Amino acid sequence: MSKLHEHTPLTHSEASAPEHIAIIMDGNGRWAKQRGLPRIAGHRAGAESVRRTVEACKNLGVKFLTLYAFSSENWNRPESEVKALMQLLERFLKEKTKEMMKQNVRLNAIGRTDMLPAKTRKQLELAIETTQNNTALTLNLALSYGGREEIVDATRAIAEKVKNGELDINTIDNDTVTNHLYTAGQPDPCLLIRTSGELRLSNFLLWQLSYAEIVILDKFWPDFSESDLTAAVAHFSGRQRRFGAL
Ligand code: FPP
Repeated sequence: MSKLHEHTPLTHSEASAPEHIAIIMDGNGRWAKQRGLPRIAGHRAGAESVRRTVEACKNLGVKFLTLYAFSSENWNRPESEVKALMQLLERFLKEKTKEMMKQNVRLNAIGRTDMLPAKTRKQLELAIETTQNNTALTLNLALSYGGREEIVDATRAIAEKVKNGELDINTIDNDTVTNHLYTAGQPDPCLLIRTSGELRLSNFLLWQLSYAEIVILDKFWPDFSESDLTAAVAHFSGRQRRFGAL
């Protein structure tokens, strides 16, 4: 794991893009506090940063981008903040679907999305359906997401198949679990970026991040820029990945 403090932005051709990038978008609240603004202003600026990052990833040739937008634990925030975040998400989905179509971006959601308010869920389903045939980049929004909960859900699905006689218990291996996660069919993220300096996984993609390179940035999420992304990618490309071998 390493922290990037200073860097020189690279051009696209200098860095080869990871196939799947995961991002913990942290620091919206502190960004707002620093400016004497309400927390929701930080989330709004965070949503704009999401838009920029999706476009930058697409331009770099990244095929999958997974963003931690709302964790299982985030339900414990004050009701007013949860409500404001849901409204922001609805507006984002409504306004950005056209742009996702233009950018050839396919939207997908991972998490216990059945817990989202009906209106938010409806907007989410509509955006997913509208963008389903797009091929340049798949944007996974982690919503009502927890890594442990995901493993619990996969375990339940596997146990159900064993109970029904569809699956032999002796054949269960790593691939069986991988294929029952919310991200089934997608490659694991090879790069995890976390903004605002915390050195924690925060229950994000616990299974999928087993071999990921981790880059921590000392910047709040609303300040994350395309040059931060290219620097993180260049850092990733410079590391030799051995997957435990020599
Ligand atoms: C962490 O900042 C961020 C979140 C809990 C939510 C992320 C949401 C967005 C980026 C905006 C909406 C997203 C979409 C996809 C439209 P924090 O509030 O925990 O910051 P703090 O640690 O400084 O308080």
